[in-house]
Amino acid sequence: MSQLKKVRGFQDIYGEDAKKYRYVVETARKIFERYNFEEIILPFVEDVSLFIRSVGEETDIIQKEMYVFEDRGGRKVALRPEGTASAVRAYIEEGLYAKGGYQKLFYEGAMFRYERPQAGRYRQFHQIGAEIFGVDTPLADAELIKMVRDILDSLKIDVRLEINSLGDFESRKLYVEKLKSFLKERENLLCDDCRKRIERNPLRVLDCKIEECKRATEDAPVILDFLSERSMERFEKLKEYLTGLGIDYRINPRLVRGLDYYTDTVFEFITDKIGAQGTVAAGGRYDTLVKQLGGPDTPALGFAAGVERLILLVENLPEEKPVVVVIPLITDFNLESLKTAEMLRKLGIKTELILKEGSLKSRMKLANKLKGSFVIFVSEKPELKDMMTGEQEVFDNLDDLVEVLKSRLS
Ligand code: HAM
Repeated sequence: MSQLKKVRGFQDIYGEDAKKYRYVVETARKIFERYNFEEIILPFVEDVSLFIRSVGEETDIIQKEMYVFEDRGGRKVALRPEGTASAVRAYIEEGLYAKGGYQKLFYEGAMFRYERPQAGRYRQFHQIGAEIFGVDTPLADAELIKMVRDILDSLKIDVRLEINSLGDFESRKLYVEKLKSFLKERENLLCDDCRKRIERNPLRVLDCKIEECKRATEDAPVILDFLSERSMERFEKLKEYLTGLGIDYRINPRLVRGLDYYTDTVFEFITDKIGAQGTVAAGGRYDTLVKQLGGPDTPALGFAAGVERLILLVENLPEEKPVVVVIPLITDFNLESLKTAEMLRKLGIKTELILKEGSLKSRMKLANKLKGSFVIFVSEKPELKDMMTGEQEVFDNLDDLVEVLKSRLS
């Protein structure tokens, strides 16, 4: 029989990487909580039209990358390719806007995109992300970017920040006309997809990854020259706040992002250390999306980071707790050993009870393999062995042993 294999683009995350996964997610969670964000747990499956209407018909995600299927009830559904659309749907559907003020939500979990797999790019990947609904101040833009910076700094990940403004509706209209006529002049230099995009969604051409398209649009007009006064002011304020916070940034006038819902501020945190898939965290404002999906007119902004890409950049995990190994000297002491392990775990001590039976030597071999800091031999008179020094002590009872162990571990 042929061996069963995981599906292309999907991964098992185990060992050191699983530890890094937890570390990344837990670090992000701590910071979300420090910024007073609340968690929202969103479904993996949504009506396909949610993504078409938010991410945008002409984007690669919708055109090529969605896992779409019909469920047994004949509903056309999709595995979520991102979290923002679901968060907006929930914000509207659950009436979160009715709570008043503004809402700050975070989420984590798997996303699915049928992309060509390579280092840092998978078909199932995981994001940590956050969204703020109901504030249109540049203060919110600055605080969101600061929060992402804090997460990356906590993980000791060295990345650069790029920002741009896509302007508001008015700015965009003017710009899109100019861009269209520029692109029409160079139509024959563009890829097939981009030629179609000229009329339908010209901004997407600037996001094309094909070299010829990049070259052909090198001197394309830039949106920053078309910003309305309001958009310009917001962008200036944001820059002022970032500078004031000591956050370095570079303005990248070609940064348009791969999803259609953005307005005004967009940003990406990028590294050169993991090859072509260098964007580790990205986001921006989407002031028209809530209304577009049938909710009240609500400005919003957010970001998401790819956990797998962060894992590739995390170098050192925080030191782990030492493990104490419990070995029943003979099988008569199995129950006593279970109780000993229970007692240690209740004290918060990381404990491995050797579950295999056999010679003491073979079980000591396992203890060595586990890199145990101490070994407890359970018998009438329990013994404690310090694996660093090799020293071994005999005790009258377990309580005395545990007292000594506690002081050694502290
Ligand atoms: P995005 O740029 O499509 O934005 O994805 C955000 C991050 O997810 C990327 O920067 C990358 O780190 C990670 N990522 C994306 N695709 C893959 C993949 N195939 N394999 C591994 N990692 C990947 C969004 O998803 C928006 N929802 C962000 C946002 C939230 N904007 C506003 N609020």
